[in-house]
Order: sequence, then C-alpha cells, then structure tokens
Amino acid sequence: MITFSGVTKRYADGTVAVDDLSLEVPTGEITVFVGPSGCGKTTSLRMINRMIDPTGGRILLDGADVTTIDPPTLRRGIGYVIQQAGLFPHRKIVDNVATVPYLLGWDRKKARDRAMELLERVGLDPKLAGRYPFQLSGGQQQRVGVARALAADPPVLLMDEPFSAVDPIVRASLQEELLRLQAELHKTIVFVTHDIDEAVKLGDRVAVLRVGGRLAQLDTPATLLARPADDFVREFLGRDRGIRRLSFISSAGIRLRTDLLVPASADVSSVRDADGAWLAVVDAEDRPLGWVAAKDLPGSGTPADAQLAPYGTFVAGRDSLRVALDATLLSPSGSAIAVDGAGKAVGVATREALDEALAAVAGDARG
Ligand SMILES: Nc1ncnc2c1ncn2[C@@H]1O[C@H](COP(=O)(O)OP(=O)(O)OP(=O)(O)O)[C@@H](O)[C@H]1O
Ligand SMILES: [Mg+2]
Repeated sequence: MITFSGVTKRYADGTVAVDDLSLEVPTGEITVFVGPSGCGKTTSLRMINRMIDPTGGRILLDGADVTTIDPPTLRRGIGYVIQQAGLFPHRKIVDNVATVPYLLGWDRKKARDRAMELLERVGLDPKLAGRYPFQLSGGQQQRVGVARALAADPPVLLMDEPFSAVDPIVRASLQEELLRLQAELHKTIVFVTHDIDEAVKLGDRVAVLRVGGRLAQLDTPATLLARPADDFVREFLGRDRGIRRLSFISSAGIRLRTDLLVPASADVSSVRDADGAWLAVVDAEDRPLGWVAAKDLPGSGTPADAQLAPYGTFVAGRDSLRVALDATLLSPSGSAIAVDGAGKAVGVATREALDEALAAVAGDARG
C-alpha cells in the first residue's frame, strides 16, 4: 500500500503543485489520478519514486517513508511508464526491455529470456525484439514501455499518461491489455491521465484532482458517476454521466420472462395467444434466432416459417445494465434476449423490466 499523508510540493518559484494530499493506494489495485493539466498529477506520481521530494508531509510505501529509502533501491521495486514510452533509441527492443535486469546484474541470457517472455506477455510479436524503437509503431512502443516496466517484476507500477500519444483504437486495445495483465499480475498501480473515460475504465478507484493539487474526490468509478462531490467533479465527469454509470451496474437484477421464448419447431397454434406482442424464437439448443411479432405468425406451421426480426442479447448477470439497455435498442421488439455464458437464451428482458431496473439505479444517484 502507498500512503500519501498531508503531502505538499512547493516548487522553488513558489508554485504549489500539490497541496496537503492525503490518500491511500491499496495493494494490488489500480488507482487513477485524473484532473486537468497542471493539477499536480505528475508531481504526485514522481514523489512516490523520489524523482521529486515533497516539501511537506510523507509518502509511505508499505509503512516505510520513501525519503528514508535511497532512490536506486526504491526504484528497483517500482516500474515506471511514461508517454511515448521513453525508450532508449539506440538500444534494440529486447535490450530496452531488459534494462532493469541488466542494472540488477542478471546475466545476459537470463535478462534477455525474461525480456522475450515479457514481449509476448504484452502482446508483441517476438520478431520485433531485434528492431530499434523507431522501427515500431507508437502503440507497439507503448507496449514495449509496459514490458520494460514489468521486467524486474516490481510490485508497484507508476504510469504517467502512458497511452495519451496513440490514436483512440490503439489506445483502447492498450487499455484492454493492461486490464488483462493486471488480472494476472495484481500490481499496485498508480495511473495518471487527464482523460476521465480512461480513468473510469481502468481505475478500481479514481482520485479527481483540481488545480493547486487538491483532492476533489476519491471513489470507485460507479460512485463517482452516481454521486460527484461537487460542481467541479460533475463538470469534469462531463456528459452522459447517467448512461456511463450503467456500465458499472450488473444486469443481474433485471426481471426476465421465460414465457416469451418459443422454440422454432413449436406449433403456431400453441403460441398464438401468448401474452406479449413479440416472441423470441430459439433453436433446438435454445440459441436465439430472432423476434417475431405475434400478429405476423403464419396461420399454420411453426414460428420458423415467419420472417424473423433482428435481436440484441446480453449475458445475464455478467454484462452490465448498459449492455442490456443497448441490446433492447437493437431489437424492433424493444426487448432484449438474455443468454447464459454459452449463448443459450434464458429469458427476455422487456422494456418494462429494464425500466424497473433503471428506476432502482436512478434512486441511488445524486447530483
Ligand atoms: N520544476 C518545476 N518548477 C516550478 N513549477 C513546476 C515544476 N514542475 C511542475 N511545476 C508546476 O506544478 C504544477 C503541477 O505540474 P504537474 O506537472 O504535476 O501537472 P500535471 O497534472 O501532471 O499536468 P499535465 O496534465 O499537463 O501533465 C503546474 O502548475 C506546473 O507548472
Ligand atoms: Mg503530467
């Protein structure tokens, strides 16, 4: 755990970059520092590995004041990733990744083996190992930066806007990759960004800072979106806050109707008077095939004889309420088909059931 206790940084010219910052970064979680330019994010981050020392207060790493640990020792346990990767231009990729192991005196083969293993871990083709940084795309360079930070398996990772310099699609894939890695590695990560969407996507908890280096709010993404502490946080969170919050709420609470599922092979006479304007037709393995309006059922035969309309699905309990809502918008029936992990239909979430679930969510919001 990293503890900021009344931390202040006043630069020599009098600028107060960080003002009386107190917060905890729990072990094994991603804590995001987010806020506008100049709010002291980088300064806060660099005080953890002593690239900058505070002028007031203390930072504790697992209980030890970092200013009592000499910087090289401290940094061995802390990986650091920056924007545009900051790779050494005249070293091959494999040697960039092996930087810290070399410094630690590992033998060359062991360090390079570790580097190769990490390149694969971050989703890079091992063939790139012999190239120089300029021969890689921006996104590939960022992955190398992450691999390099992980090389000596440090328990703590500091990431300062690591994905800001790449286009939105590459950025999204780097974010996914980080979450995937973190699910395996459980590092203690402090991630700095000025992008609130990135913050709520990656953070277990998000610290919103305001200019002057003051903490405005520290909460989980769901709580932040539901209950911003003040106008500054509310404005910083921006538009669509209500919709975005649904991403953090499980679809488990949605009431499902099984009576609206009909087998494709059923006799239409047995489903004709079903209670509901639309029916979800499923195959012999219970997989959804599409919607049919009760009025469009053929006079005889099976629902499979009708023209089936497109449908949206969500995995009940695993997907969020946002995915379920999206699925209703993809179906002319206005309802969504709930499936299990294997893709079998388990029920129908009607618009009314969605409304009930959304009303429960709205009751929990403020501001
Ligand atoms: N060496 C320095 N001397 C004086 N002031 C500094 C120094 N470094 C940073 N500052 C100031 O401290 C404040 C916080 O800077 P910092 O780099 O921590 O902000 P940041 O939140 O990381 O911003 P950005 O999003 O633009 O990276 C700013 O006002 C900055 O100008
Ligand atoms: Mg910065």
